[in-house]
Amino acid sequence: MLDPRSATVPDLTGQVALVTGAGRGQGRSHCLALAGCGADVAALDVCADLDVPAYPLATRAELDDVVAAVEGTGRRALPLVADVRDAAAVQASVAAVEDAFGRLDVLVNNAAVVTSAPFWELSEEQWTAVVDTNLSGVWRTTAAAAGLLRRSPRGRIVNIASTGGVRAVPEFAHYVAAKHGVVGLTRAMAIELADARVTVNAILPGAVDSPMLAGLADELGLTREDVHKRWLHDQLLIEVITPDEITGALLWLLSDAARHVTGHCLAVDGGALAR
Ligand SMILES: NC(=O)c1ccc[n+]([C@@H]2O[C@H](COP(=O)([O-])OP(=O)(O)OC[C@H]3O[C@@H](n4cnc5c(N)ncnc54)[C@H](O)[C@@H]3O)[C@@H](O)[C@H]2O)c1
Repeated sequence: MLDPRSATVPDLTGQVALVTGAGRGQGRSHCLALAGCGADVAALDVCADLDVPAYPLATRAELDDVVAAVEGTGRRALPLVADVRDAAAVQASVAAVEDAFGRLDVLVNNAAVVTSAPFWELSEEQWTAVVDTNLSGVWRTTAAAAGLLRRSPRGRIVNIASTGGVRAVPEFAHYVAAKHGVVGLTRAMAIELADARVTVNAILPGAVDSPMLAGLADELGLTREDVHKRWLHDQLLIEVITPDEITGALLWLLSDAARHVTGHCLAVDGGALAR
């Protein structure tokens, strides 16, 4: 029988987690919580500014800071500088995880970028960067890690999608298309990994207070008030969600209580999808 006091908090002692987009924001929060639950953590980030998006991405110093914080909990940490759009770099990163730890139990596909424009104004570069990072990056990373995850006694994959994964919002067609793809991919992978008892789920965050939201606001010349009007107006609970509140949902999906939950999309969105 599940112990109600411990069943909703995963005990990841002796396990290994890989988090993409780990340098800051939600990814950083996930890494620290996974370490707090006992896991060794491989923290992957591109650590470079790209042509798309216009806002800065995480730096190497930020990734090193995550690594130091994980090590501060007494767990081991492996920094991986890689671009999820680059198949060879992703495969080399997974090989480095196997070399360092010999196993992989938890994969959190979190890396993503965003831009905003009416769909007819999107450039090829914007379309390709968003779809290749946010959707193909999830497939690429999970495909590279599937062999290791299948060998785990308790494999868990969590894809960070968006409410934009199940409904459309204006001026984010490429992001919406990519996140709908992540939801479909989550269900398809859940079917194909069920025989190895690997669960695959998605989290659909609402508006999260992270550098992505701030970067997008800067890019569009919006104030914080504008951001609230534009992205929070349809949440029932009109408050920006904090990264650790997304981490809370992640931990539940990794817990014993969620062991029969797979192919599921869990919205942490202040009720936006209720409308
Ligand atoms: N912030 C929001 O309001 C919000 C809402 C819904 C969903 N999400 C999703 O949450 C997840 C985390 O986003 P966040 O809010 O923490 O944003 P963020 O920009 O702070 O973090 C994203 C991380 O991904 C990294 N990254 C970007 N491109 C990469 C690449 N090609 N390869 C490797 N790493 C790369 C960045 O360097 C950064 O560290 C994303 O999947 C995002 O789409 C965010």
